[in-house]
Amino acid sequence: MSIISKDISKAIQLLTDENIVAIPTETVYGLAGNIYSKKAITSIFETKKRPFFNPLIVHIPSIDSLSTIVENIPEKAQLLADAFWPGPITLVLKKKAIIPDLITGGKDTVAVRVPNHPTTLELLKQLDFPLAAPSANPFSSISPTTAQHVETYFKDTLKMVLDGGACKSGIESTIIGFENDEPIIYRLGSTAIEDIEAIVGKIEIKNTVTEAPKQKTIPNAPGMLARHYAPKTKTVLTDNIPKALEQHQNLRIGLLVFDTEIENDAIKTQIVLSKTGNLKESASKLYDALHQLDTFDLDIIIAEKFPDNGLGKSINDRLNRATK
Ligand code: TXA
Ligand code: MG
Repeated sequence: MSIISKDISKAIQLLTDENIVAIPTETVYGLAGNIYSKKAITSIFETKKRPFFNPLIVHIPSIDSLSTIVENIPEKAQLLADAFWPGPITLVLKKKAIIPDLITGGKDTVAVRVPNHPTTLELLKQLDFPLAAPSANPFSSISPTTAQHVETYFKDTLKMVLDGGACKSGIESTIIGFENDEPIIYRLGSTAIEDIEAIVGKIEIKNTVTEAPKQKTIPNAPGMLARHYAPKTKTVLTDNIPKALEQHQNLRIGLLVFDTEIENDAIKTQIVLSKTGNLKESASKLYDALHQLDTFDLDIIIAEKFPDNGLGKSINDRLNRATK
């Protein structure tokens, strides 16, 4: 039997009983549990096979709940929350003592956001606790943007996926931390950097972390480990498609391109993300395209580099991580 359901009251029951439920958001599906339940939170980490040092995002129903979670709110954090919530921005702020260390990987900060999805906002309003939710994929693999993606990953270990349709934004939230009360981008995401800069001025990107296995210190946002969001199929990112096709011509090639279909006999299958050259549309379809390409028994996925502005920057970040 399918674990996919639209029944909010069933999700409420399961979550209240300290179970975990996959929930829709505007970015990607999350694997959610009561932030105050050790059982639920442990289950999130175990289901995802995620290391405990990698902290979780806390999802709240509205900006009004923020002060119950965090200690103090820098002026620019307030401006960003006012401008973008509900929406795909996560703020990393000093946590209140009530937030369990299990959520934050022992850090004194907590990541928090108000997701912009009607089903999940309704769910959060009816619960009397916030939900911790990492993306609902096994550690390092492609994030899910449909209920079916989640079911494929977790049908044997999860009781329910709350169905909210395909995610509209399609890549994770932009994560913003604060150093001396000044905002810094820890993870590029569904809110374009230009839109953030329009609110708080020029902002630094500390999208720092590179080699995951050799990692000695815990990165600022551990989701920035080099290999992440990755298909099983070997993936390369290029701004010279003809050259890449020539280099790999004896392999079974899948192609992922921005707006223009390429004609070449070496290509076994090809996905064009936006025929009108729209970055928002491309972002919303990116993970589904990678999920699809992964099912074609290809030797290699060749992905085209996107324009390095707006959401193109975030798409390039994810494609780059998929190649590691
Ligand atoms: O769009 C999203 O953000 C989705 C949906 C479900 O809300 N969630 C998501 O969660 O992408 P996850 O766990 O896959 O990525 C959260 C990232 C991780 O890289 C984690 O290291 C970082 O947030 N993070 C969480 N708490 C943090 C903290 N206190 N300081 C720095 N980074 C933190
Ligand atoms: Mg994730």
